[in-house]
Amino acid sequence: MIIAPSILTSDLARLAESCKNAIDSGLDWLHLDVMDGNFVPNLTFGPPVIASLRKTLGDAPMFDTHLMISNAEDCFQDYIDAGCNHLSVHVEAVTHLHRLVTAIRQAGAGAGVVLNPGTPVDAALEVLSEIDMVLVMSVNPGFGGQSFIPTVEAKIRRLRAAIDAQVAAGGRPVQIQVDGGVKAHNIAMLRDWGVDNCVVGSGLFNDRASVQENLEVIQAALQE
Ligand code: DX5
Ligand code: ZN
Repeated sequence: MIIAPSILTSDLARLAESCKNAIDSGLDWLHLDVMDGNFVPNLTFGPPVIASLRKTLGDAPMFDTHLMISNAEDCFQDYIDAGCNHLSVHVEAVTHLHRLVTAIRQAGAGAGVVLNPGTPVDAALEVLSEIDMVLVMSVNPGFGGQSFIPTVEAKIRRLRAAIDAQVAAGGRPVQIQVDGGVKAHNIAMLRDWGVDNCVVGSGLFNDRASVQENLEVIQAALQE
C-alpha cells in the first residue's frame, strides 16, 4: 500500500517543512491538492508554489497532483513544467477526457482520473486502458478532515475487477487510489477492497502526534 500524504491539513505557511516531515518519515509520494475556488469551494496553490517546492525538495519525491480545477484542459502543461510527475483530473470537470489523459501521458507525466462520490464508475472504465490511476473520492472534494463515505465500496470493487481483467488480458496495470477520511481505523479495510494507494491528510498532519508517530500507527493497522 502506497501512502500519499496530503499536505492540505498541514500548516500551509510551512509547506516545505511539512513536506520534508513526510519525506523524512519515509514517504516518497506527496499528494498536492490544487483547488481553484471554482470547481471546488476552496483555493489552495498552483504551478508557482509547486515549482518552488520542487526546487526546495529536489527531484526525488513523487508529486502526485490532484487537480480540483475547471480548466485542466487549458493548463495541465503548466503543472508538468512545475515538476509534477502525475496529474489526476476530475471527470466531472473535463469535456474531452480521453484527449486530456492521452495528452498528459504524451507530455511525460502519469495520468489519473478522479471520481467524486456521486459519480458513477463508468467514465473511468471508458479510459482504463489509457491511464495510470483511478482516484476514488471518499469525501466530496474541497476540504481536509471530512468523514469517509463508506458507499464507495461498490465502486472500488468494480474497479478492482475491471483492472484485474485488463491486466490478465495483458493490459496496463492501473492503481486505485482513495482520497478522503482515510485513517488508521479504516485503511486495512480499504486494502481488503483492493485499494493500492491511500491519500492521508488529517490522519498524518494533526495536533495529536508527529507525522512519524501517526504513520507508525497506520502501518501497524496494515500489518494486523
Ligand atoms: C479533499 C482532498 C483530500 C483531503 C485529504 O478535497 O482531495 O486530499 O485533503 O484529507 P483527509 O485525509 O483529512 O480527508
Ligand atoms: Zn486530494
